[in-house]
Amino acid sequence: MAKADTSTVTVIGLGAMGGQLARAFLVKGADVTVWNRSPQRAATFAEMGARIAASAADAVKASDLTVMCVLSCQAADEILAAPGVIPALGGRTLVQLSAGHDQEIRRQYARVEQAGGRMLAGGIVAYPFLIGESTTTILYSGSEPAFEEHRETLALLAGAQRFLGSDPARFGATFHALFAYYHAAYAGYLEGLALATAQGVALEDFSALIPGMDVMLSHHIPDAALRIRDAEYGGEQASIDTHIGGISVMLQLARDHGVQMHVMDAFIEYCRAAHDAGEGGQDIAAIYKRMVAGEKGGGTHQAG
Ligand SMILES: NC(=O)c1ccc[n+]([C@@H]2O[C@H](COP(=O)([O-])OP(=O)(O)OC[C@H]3O[C@@H](n4cnc5c(N)ncnc54)[C@H](OP(=O)(O)O)[C@@H]3O)[C@@H](O)[C@H]2O)c1
Repeated sequence: MAKADTSTVTVIGLGAMGGQLARAFLVKGADVTVWNRSPQRAATFAEMGARIAASAADAVKASDLTVMCVLSCQAADEILAAPGVIPALGGRTLVQLSAGHDQEIRRQYARVEQAGGRMLAGGIVAYPFLIGESTTTILYSGSEPAFEEHRETLALLAGAQRFLGSDPARFGATFHALFAYYHAAYAGYLEGLALATAQGVALEDFSALIPGMDVMLSHHIPDAALRIRDAEYGGEQASIDTHIGGISVMLQLARDHGVQMHVMDAFIEYCRAAHDAGEGGQDIAAIYKRMVAGEKGGGTHQAG
């Protein structure tokens, strides 16, 4: 396979995700150096053609671009504190894909910048098996010149990458919010499955109907976005009170069959709070006002 133009890269951290990042670079023909705290993990990457660095500092020195993906920013801090690592980042780029709080990310960015290096921080919106796909998203923020310089190499990991601003922690505002959506949808599938199977529905039969619900959501979400933007909550399709009626039946069934539906319990609480605020006749998107209020049940969204 032909090498990518900007094809020299170091990967630090070879766990489930870091290992897949290294594999994707290797499969796409990049020149890869790897380092992992536990050296035994590196052997399979050597078989695929990667160079194994003797230390984290040597790994950083091997490439202009280092992608770090370890358990957490605290783990990343330990690696950055190892002899020679921070000085080696001078004139180079660190892409930090390890989970961390905004303050940890900004602190690391400042350390790298102080050493004369550049840093991007990012959030991987995928499980490892999706790394390398054209539709996979990684959100980045931090040094824009570094992103521009290395975008081609980074695109080997995720074809749908995005740069979201120069504050290195900025990507997190979108990244964590996206996972609120993902986890709630996933929990909804599992709760629904528990309710269906408790009543004798086959797992396969229930699961086969989920894509139809995805189609419904793919229409409903853009509609909700417009309603929220325009503060336009007419309940002509299905009001909050209509939803309360349907969800109440669902939750009664769950109780009858001993099924736990905590996510649905929380959802109906939002609906009831909206009803109590006199909004039961509005579209279901109006429960958003209960979420942005800051305090239970009060306040309204500021459109725009
Ligand atoms: N897996 C996913 O689906 C996924 C998705 C999005 C984002 N991420 C993020 O990717 C990062 C890595 O996740 P993962 O799934 O690859 O985790 P993992 O399989 O548990 O691997 C953890 C990696 O971190 C290293 N590590 C842990 N503590 C360390 C320390 N104190 N010093 C040096 N290295 C240390 C481990 O090294 P050893 O081999 O020596 O233990 C290993 O390479 C996390 O921040 C996670 O939030 C993961």
